[in-house]
Amino acid sequence: MTDRPEPRRIAVGVTGASGAIYAVRTMAALLESGCHLQIVFSDYGRRLLMDELGPEARPDRLVDLLVERYGEPVRRGSFELHSNKDLGASLASGSHRCESLVIVPCSMKTMAGVAHALSRSLIERAADVMLKERRRLVLVPRETPMSLPELRNMVLCAEAGAMVLPAMPAFYQQPKTIDDLAAFIAGKILNALGFEQRLFTPWSGA
Ligand SMILES: Cc1cc2nc3c(=O)[nH]c(=O)nc-3n(C[C@H](O)[C@H](O)[C@H](O)COP(=O)(O)O)c2cc1C
Repeated sequence: MTDRPEPRRIAVGVTGASGAIYAVRTMAALLESGCHLQIVFSDYGRRLLMDELGPEARPDRLVDLLVERYGEPVRRGSFELHSNKDLGASLASGSHRCESLVIVPCSMKTMAGVAHALSRSLIERAADVMLKERRRLVLVPRETPMSLPELRNMVLCAEAGAMVLPAMPAFYQQPKTIDDLAAFIAGKILNALGFEQRLFTPWSGA
């Protein structure tokens, strides 16, 4: 009998910035890679999921949503949902072995909380854990224009060790659809988390 390798354990925080499609594209790609995801929605993250992807886009039917949009391969992975109010969840402790956290999309409010180590919610606390344990933290803000305090908060996060990966799709791939734009950002996130990705073709220099 062969021992199966443990799946890679990745946390995903979804907050109330526009760009829920980036969250679901990223989750689908990580699940296709066979990861175990620990997913946390903020209240506004849940609201924006429905506002932007339709009334059927709810965390309680996440599997159906992801299979409908991206197909059966998402079933290769597994996930659990945590309440953002549960500061006693495993993700709140550095002793819990979760290798990385991506907050996608990341609101300016949550960015401020991470920058100042406020730990007001599970997402903010999990981000603080990643920074103090020197693990990967990827923050995907979406806001425009940005105020000086917002820009400063991003610098604080970057100085503390986070990767700030703004939701700014590129156009050299000649995207045709909204899904192409989302796939580009999800691919960048997968690379930032240390995964190979096939969501877009890397620039070859030609
Ligand atoms: C329709 C809608 C769109 C929003 N878009 C953004 C956005 O793109 N970026 C952002 O930083 N905040 C945005 N907000 C504001 C945040 O949702 C708000 O600051 C919220 O308190 C964030 O809380 P959270 O970080 O706990 O999700 C939006 C709010 C709504 C209702």
